[in-house]
Amino acid sequence: MNYDHAYFEKDREHFAEKLNVGKEILYITREECENIGITRDDALNITKNTLISHGKKEYEMPAKIGIHPWTEVFFHAMPAYVPEQRALGCKWIECFPNNPKKYDLPQTTGLLILNDVLSGVPVAVMDCTWLTAMRTPAVTVLAAAALHPDAENFGMFGCGVQGMEHVRFVPKTLKHLKKIYVYDVVEAAADNLIKTVQPEIDVEIIKAASPQEIAEKCEVMSSATIILKEPLCAVKDEWISAGQTIVPCDMNTFFDLKTQYRADKYIVDSVDEHELFAQMGYFPADKGLPEVYCQTGEILAGLKEGRTSKDELIVCSNIGMSVCDVTMAKAIFDAAIEKGVGQKLKL
Ligand SMILES: NC(=O)c1ccc[n+]([C@@H]2O[C@H](COP(=O)([O-])OP(=O)(O)OC[C@H]3O[C@@H](n4cnc5c(N)ncnc54)[C@H](O)[C@@H]3O)[C@@H](O)[C@H]2O)c1
Repeated sequence: MNYDHAYFEKDREHFAEKLNVGKEILYITREECENIGITRDDALNITKNTLISHGKKEYEMPAKIGIHPWTEVFFHAMPAYVPEQRALGCKWIECFPNNPKKYDLPQTTGLLILNDVLSGVPVAVMDCTWLTAMRTPAVTVLAAAALHPDAENFGMFGCGVQGMEHVRFVPKTLKHLKKIYVYDVVEAAADNLIKTVQPEIDVEIIKAASPQEIAEKCEVMSSATIILKEPLCAVKDEWISAGQTIVPCDMNTFFDLKTQYRADKYIVDSVDEHELFAQMGYFPADKGLPEVYCQTGEILAGLKEGRTSKDELIVCSNIGMSVCDVTMAKAIFDAAIEKGVGQKLKL
C-alpha cells in the first residue's frame, strides 16, 4: 500500500474544518474518552487492524524509552506511526505500582499527544488511561482467540483495571467459553470484579482459591498484576501442562520463568520491546530472552502459523505497543471532532 500525501489529505481537510490546525489543539479528558461512543467491539477492530499493520511491518515504532526515579516505577515515552489508520503520536505513561495503596490513585496514568501526519503539528492531547485499558485486553483476547479458539476456561490473575477489562473482553473473542476464573492477592478486588462484571457478561465468573486452581483448570490464562524485575513466579511450572496458552501483559512477573523457556512457542508483541526489557534486567542475565517464534501481529496477519498441535505449550507476552495507542487515540480524536467533544486550547 502506498501511503502518499493524497492518502491523508481528505482526512486532514475533515478535521481542519472544525479545528484551527497549527493554532489550537483539542484537549480530551478521561471521561470524554470513555463516553465518546467507541465500544469494546470497536476497540477490538481497531486493535486487530493495528496488529495486522504491525505484522506486515507497516508502522514505525522505536522501543520505549524510559526514566525510573524510584525502584519498580517507570515513565515510558511511546511514539508510533501507523499510516493505514492515519495515526501518529506519542504516549507518555507512568506506572507506579504503589499508587493505589499510597495515594488512592491508579498505578497507570498518562497523556497522549496526537499529531497531524502532513504538517506534523499537534492536534490533540488526551488522557490515555482509558485507551490503555481498552487496547491492552484487546491484544490479549485477539491473541488468545488466534492461538486457542476452542478454549472453554479462561483464567485471569489480577483483578484491577486491566483484569476487569480482560474479563469484559474475553467472551467477545473466545466463543466457546464456559467459565472465567479470577484471582487476586487482594480478595476484595476479585469480589469487586465479579460483582461489577458478572451482570454484564453471560459467562460465569468464579473466584479461584489459588493460582494453582486456575493453572490446573484453564486452557488459557492471562495476568495483569505488577511488573517486577524479580519475578513472583506465583504460577509454578509444574502446574502447567501441554496444550495451555499463556498470554500475560505484565511481563515475566506472575509465571515461573521455566515455563517461558520451555514453551513450544514463545511469541511476543514486539521483539524490540522485549529485547529492551531484557537489557534492563527483566530476564536472567545468563539466559536472556527466550527464543522468540514470532510477533503477535504476524499471527493476526496470517503470516505465521499459530497453534499447530493441541499439545503445544504457547506463551504470548504482550508488554504493550504504542502502535495500538495511537490508533485508539486517532479513533477518539475523530469521534471528538465529529461530535464536538473536547476543549480547544491555544497552542
Ligand atoms: N502490557 C500492557 O500493554 C499493559 C498495559 C497496561 C498495564 N499493564 C500492566 O498490567 C498490570 C496491571 O495494571 P492495572 O492498571 O490493572 O493495575 P491495578 O493496580 O488496577 O491492578 C493490579 C491488580 O493486581 C493485583 N496484584 C498485585 N500483586 C498481585 C499478586 N502478587 N498476586 C495477585 N494479584 C496481585 C492487585 O491487588 C490489583 O488488584 C501492571 O503491571 C501494568 O504495568 C500492561
